[in-house]
Amino acid sequence: MEKIVIGSDHVGFELKPVIIEYVKSLGYEVKDVGTYSSERTDYTIYGKKVGEAVASKKYDLGIAICGTGIGIGIAANKVKGIRCCSCSEPYSAKLSRQHNNSNVLAFGSRVVGPELAKMIVGEWLNAKFLGGRHLRRIDEITAEENEDEELFQKVMTSDSVRYQDN
Ligand code: RB5
Repeated sequence: MEKIVIGSDHVGFELKPVIIEYVKSLGYEVKDVGTYSSERTDYTIYGKKVGEAVASKKYDLGIAICGTGIGIGIAANKVKGIRCCSCSEPYSAKLSRQHNNSNVLAFGSRVVGPELAKMIVGEWLNAKFLGGRHLRRIDEITAEENEDEELFQKVMTSDSVRYQDN
């Protein structure tokens, strides 16, 4: 069973249980890393928690909720190995998996209602990375993340079969 980690700040706190129930209903195991009350806190803490849980490979994918999905998404993206997408509609969420191999999804409780949020999550979980020509860009992102300019250039100019379209 695939494992999903979810976190939110105080603004995303009310939407979070709705999403947890929905994700469980789709057959995933879900771990809630907080926040556990509506008391004011920082989205950075929970973006980091979700990001680290996914980067550690203890969880397959992560979901992060704040007011807009922006702050918590930026925080998650600071964790090495995380490709977090902040999405307010399902099309971008789906493509973020297919093309960008996103491993964390962020959205905002002040932007999307519960039903749209569920649709975004459903499309995202259902989509798979397409690889092929998209893989080169992911490898370039990883090289940049590791500040490895030599590898970036090597990947950029490679015509390896690994990067052929599919
Ligand atoms: C909290 O007021 C708010 O800034 C936060 O939930 C989020 O929207 C930040 O990006």
